[in-house]
Amino acid sequence: MKGKLSWAPLDAEPSRVLDIGTGTGIWACDYAEAHPQSEVVGTDLSLIQPDYSPPNCHFVREDAEEEWVHDSPFDYAHARMMTICFKDPAAMIRKIYDNLQPGGWVEYQEIGADQIAADAESEKLIQSTPFSLREYMHRVVQGAANLGRNIDVAPRLEGWMVEAGFVDVTVHQILGPVNAWSSDPVEHRIGFFITQDVIEVVQSASKFYKAYGMTDDEITKFVEGCCRHNKQLTKTDPSRYVVYGRKPCAGEISKSAKPN
Ligand SMILES: C[S@@+](CC[C@H](N)C(=O)[O-])C[C@H]1O[C@@H](n2cnc3c(N)ncnc32)[C@H](O)[C@@H]1O
Repeated sequence: MKGKLSWAPLDAEPSRVLDIGTGTGIWACDYAEAHPQSEVVGTDLSLIQPDYSPPNCHFVREDAEEEWVHDSPFDYAHARMMTICFKDPAAMIRKIYDNLQPGGWVEYQEIGADQIAADAESEKLIQSTPFSLREYMHRVVQGAANLGRNIDVAPRLEGWMVEAGFVDVTVHQILGPVNAWSSDPVEHRIGFFITQDVIEVVQSASKFYKAYGMTDDEITKFVEGCCRHNKQLTKTDPSRYVVYGRKPCAGEISKSAKPN
């Protein structure tokens, strides 16, 4: 995110690092390479990660919602793009707390469920179409809620971290282009890739559209409309969240809400 692998202000190199839901393992490999003193463990439901990873990085098949089987606690736990994966995201944060050393950090990097217009003209364009990314997100979040699942977790991470007992909880809300509208070459490239990603995501959400109450015909029209609209160079961004917090050290007076 913004060229940084990690945002939490760790005092020292962490000995043990956990990447929950590591996916391709790209973050875990990059972090291990940049921090050769750290031992990085990437966990996921499937072991699809590369065979050749840095020697201080390894991968474990583990369902993060089941019991964890690591030998010792971690100094830093990282989770990226895990928004819709967990049935109980607040419980996951409590579990991370229990598996960190005192003084250890947790960090989440997530996309928020909104489309933010960069200027008045783009806001007008969003409001003038039934096929905006904002409308897509609204339907998906509502459809998921109808299935009993809250997937709009990014704005709630801060509160859940505080409730779990973390201190120094900090939120960064970062804007980044949803399509290739930016004149900045890096942002332009990111926007280009996000457009491709959004198109796939919009096409794969039929379970949520159905739970929202849409018919098959309505879904087809909506997906076509959203894909078409998203290719227009509206100056809009999804908000990305980086949220981190620290587990207090033994004896430290916690400002948190966690009961003793
Ligand atoms: C959107 S991908 C994010 C991958 C990675 N964090 C990244 O940013 O590149 C979500 C990943 O979480 C994994 N996942 C989903 N539910 C999980 C669970 N309960 N325990 C562990 N991994 C899970 C999926 O298999 C998938 O690889």
